[in-house]
Amino acid sequence: MVQGKWFAPGTNPGAAAGVRQEVFGFGQDALDSMSWNVLVYQDDVPAASGRIWWQDGAYRLGDIGVLPAMRGRRLGDLTFRLLLFKAQEHFAREVRLAAPPEVLGFFTRLGFRPDPFSPHGEGAPVEMVLPGAQIDLDSCKNCDRVSCPSRKPD
Ligand SMILES: CC(C)(COP(=O)(O)OP(=O)(O)OC[C@H]1O[C@@H](n2cnc3c(N)ncnc32)[C@H](O)[C@@H]1OP(=O)(O)O)[C@@H](O)C(=O)NCCC(=O)NCCS
Repeated sequence: MVQGKWFAPGTNPGAAAGVRQEVFGFGQDALDSMSWNVLVYQDDVPAASGRIWWQDGAYRLGDIGVLPAMRGRRLGDLTFRLLLFKAQEHFAREVRLAAPPEVLGFFTRLGFRPDPFSPHGEGAPVEMVLPGAQIDLDSCKNCDRVSCPSRKPD
C-alpha cells in the first residue's frame, strides 16, 4: 500500500530527511524550519520525499526524490502532486522550482515551464515556474484507458 505523511514546518521531518539524505546527500537542515515535508511510503517503507516552502513571493518545491530502487512506480509523481496540492491549499499565486536539466520533462508533465527571466548556464539547474491558477491535479487527463471506472461519460 502507498501512503503519504506530512511534517509541518519546524517539526522533525524524520524519515523524509532520511530519503533526502540517500537521494541528494544531505538530510535535515535549516530550510526544514520553514518547509512542509512530505514522505511517501511503499508498504510501510519510506520511499520518496519532497518539500515546499514560501520564498520571495512564491511557493518553492524542492528536493523531490525517490530511492533508486523504488523509481518508475509513480511514487515521484505522487510526491510531486502532493506538494502541488499543498501549494493549492495555500492559494499559491505562483509555484517555482529549480530542476536539473535531465529531469525537466518530469516537471513539464504537470505544467511547469522554464522561467524565461531566469537564464541558466549549460548543465545548471533550470528555474521553472507554474502559475497557481494553472495547477491541474486531474490524473485522468490524457489517460486513454477506456474501461477505467474513474472515466466520466463523454
Ligand atoms: C525524478 C524522480 C523524482 C522521478 O521519480 P519516479 O518515481 O521514478 O517517477 P514516476 O514513476 O513517478 O514517473 C512519472 C512520470 O514521469 C516520467 N519521468 C520520470 N523521470 C523522468 C525524467 N527524469 N525525465 C522525464 N520524465 C520522467 C515517467 O516516465 C512517468 O511518465 P508517464 O506519466 O508518461 O508514465 C526520480 O527519478 C528521482 O528521485 N531522481 C533523482 C532526484 C531528482 O533529480 N529530483 C528532481 C530534482 S528536485
